[in-house]
Amino acid sequence: MEDSGSVDWGEVCQRFPIVNERIYLNAAAVGAMPQVAVDAVHAHTRSVALRADGAFQTWLNLKESCRVNLGALLGVPPRSLGFCSHTSHGMGLLALALEEAADLGGAKKHIVHAADEFPASTVPWQHRGYELAAAEAQEGIYAPEAFAACSRKDTLAWVVSHAQFGTGARIDLEAFCKAAAAQEVLLIVNATQSVGTGPIDAGRLGVDALVATGHKWLCSGFGNGVLYVKPSLWERLRAPLAGWASCVDAAKLDFSKPSPLRKDVAVIESGSHQFAELAALEKTSEMLLELGLDNVRARLVELGDMLLDGLEAKGYAISTPSAQAHHSSAVTFLHPQPALLVEELGKQKIDVVARAGGVRVSPHIYNDLEAIDAFLDAF
Ligand SMILES: Cc1ncc(COP(=O)(O)O)c(C=O)c1O
Repeated sequence: MEDSGSVDWGEVCQRFPIVNERIYLNAAAVGAMPQVAVDAVHAHTRSVALRADGAFQTWLNLKESCRVNLGALLGVPPRSLGFCSHTSHGMGLLALALEEAADLGGAKKHIVHAADEFPASTVPWQHRGYELAAAEAQEGIYAPEAFAACSRKDTLAWVVSHAQFGTGARIDLEAFCKAAAAQEVLLIVNATQSVGTGPIDAGRLGVDALVATGHKWLCSGFGNGVLYVKPSLWERLRAPLAGWASCVDAAKLDFSKPSPLRKDVAVIESGSHQFAELAALEKTSEMLLELGLDNVRARLVELGDMLLDGLEAKGYAISTPSAQAHHSSAVTFLHPQPALLVEELGKQKIDVVARAGGVRVSPHIYNDLEAIDAFLDAF
């Protein structure tokens, strides 16, 4: 693992107002916003007050620059992703689009998912009448073999989080892509717990579709969901919904003649967007790209390793796999009274959360090594 030493992480921490308030170790729930993003939200709101429709083109431009940044964060062509509201929304749209394709969701009604999957990955499929099978982890790690063992002739897709919400355990994305292709099933990835934590490379690896949202590791507040679909798959699908903004000529705002629907995934951006938090996303995605995704990953692994070592030294059993390839920053440890410990730490202005039968600690780039030490010394 590359070391993250080329970045002045102390300076990075100071970009986030929360570090002056608390030791916040809960990015896997909600990432804290940096000041630059808070300022961008304010600037957008001021522009609605002082320029109103006069600033509309600026807001549309904002969306396009976010698209480019998200493309770089996910390792996919910007044109192959569309903005939606949140993970569940993107997954639901994908389920609908696949269902309409006679040779895909029209014929194959079986999905394999990780047993501990966050319900944003599963409920949309259940709701559309798919039968779901849960693949089990071994020692906290999900392997493609477990998914293959649950697959049938009518399996449409494997749906799996790149990093699990409960334990932070990461899958080997490349191995999953290869195995899914070999089984002739789609690989659909929920990247909400990994986007912004390091490079993803979804395009090169051959992920078929991916959904994610921005309120965790992207630190951009709420409403910034994204759906990526591999171009060769998207060509086979019909837009799951459409509105005026789905039209090719939407930006011209000339409704005197009919305009066809755009052919890319952005067709799902069917109306006027919420721009305020896109303004935040533009700044936070820019920041992560400037820091360097490899540096961010190395830093988060460093923080995660420190947590794993410290908790182990204190004698706690840990649910997160210790192999660096399978963890990022979130670490979950078992405790007899997780809720009580979370409450006690909260009184000391240290924020963690009870998850997966234990306590989940999820530091981000705004936490330093001293914060991890302070957490470990606090109980
Ligand atoms: C893996 C994963 N997906 C999705 C979400 C949130 O779903 P949504 O974006 O639909 O609110 C969470 C939140 O904890 C999550 O951990």
